[in-house]
Amino acid sequence: MADPFARFPRFPLAHLPTPLVEMKRLRATLSGRMNAEPPRLFIKRDDCTGLAGGGNKTRKLEFLIGEALSQGCNTVVTTGALQSNHARQTAAAAAAAGLRCLLVLFESVPYAGRAYRSSGNLLLDRILGAEVRVEQADADAGALFRQVMAEIEAGGGKPYLVPVGGSNATGSLGYTAAYLEIADALDALGTGPARIVHASSSGGTQAGLVVGRQLRGHGPSVAGINVYRADNDAMAAGILALAGKTAALFELAAPEAGAVVLDGAHLGPRYGLPTEEMKAAVELVAREEGVLLDPVYTGKAMAGFIAQVLAGRHDDVEALVFLHTGGMPGLFAYEDEF
Ligand SMILES: Cc1ncc(COP(=O)(O)O)c(C=O)c1O
Repeated sequence: MADPFARFPRFPLAHLPTPLVEMKRLRATLSGRMNAEPPRLFIKRDDCTGLAGGGNKTRKLEFLIGEALSQGCNTVVTTGALQSNHARQTAAAAAAAGLRCLLVLFESVPYAGRAYRSSGNLLLDRILGAEVRVEQADADAGALFRQVMAEIEAGGGKPYLVPVGGSNATGSLGYTAAYLEIADALDALGTGPARIVHASSSGGTQAGLVVGRQLRGHGPSVAGINVYRADNDAMAAGILALAGKTAALFELAAPEAGAVVLDGAHLGPRYGLPTEEMKAAVELVAREEGVLLDPVYTGKAMAGFIAQVLAGRHDDVEALVFLHTGGMPGLFAYEDEF
């Protein structure tokens, strides 16, 4: 098939393809706990996308920075929580593209850990040369962004606004492409029916993967684990709407509601606040596989992945891929937990 992404501006940032690795030791441990044979377990190492600590945003930023450059923009503005991995990768992508970067970060997570406001992603944002502006959770974001954009323009700059998590249709293209990469790698291994499980937050990863399946016509199903919103149904509806916009870029029909599968049982008290099962999952995977997850996204998603495997939820497939979306620098911000 001709490259379906060739017509979208793209700025190369990621080291691709990322490795797809079998987790034999984790599988043996889970098998012992359930007295049954789970499917083969794999981990897709998108924490190794290569840009300043890696993670899923790198794939999205290839298309977002490509679009910014194609529009002649010279300043990238984005937003997130204080420990946003997306903000850190955007800072790195902007640096690599020679663009100014302004991060507007919100005090939206009521976490009192001693390193939360100084270390982890926030430290890296500063080293990467981003200008960091911290705002209170209840600030009027709309008014704030209008003011920030006007300030940049008044100084002669041309801003490009990247939405939270890089999750618009352009950003989601990164995970439409990733779906093809994963599905082709599974085919090459001859694994049989498969499923991809991953952390879902602003939704671009899941929307992109869902559209990838539509584009390819066959391949692993997709199951998100909600680490973001208490209202699981509203979040799934938002992801479906974003998938519709992404599908439209390929002149595909909007996917049906059943295409967005989202497990809301592993969020805990709220976004960014640790759970005991997250800590257990982070330590288990570190000690069984030598792989570092993160406390906000992949740790909670792995807790969900393990619970689903133990409950036999994936007995209908032969291969289960945990998509490691990155976030490891966040461990340093949550040092009190470990
Ligand atoms: C490490 C990590 N995993 C998963 C996600 C969720 O991806 P998405 O926002 O596309 O749902 C994020 C988003 O910030 C992230 O930083």
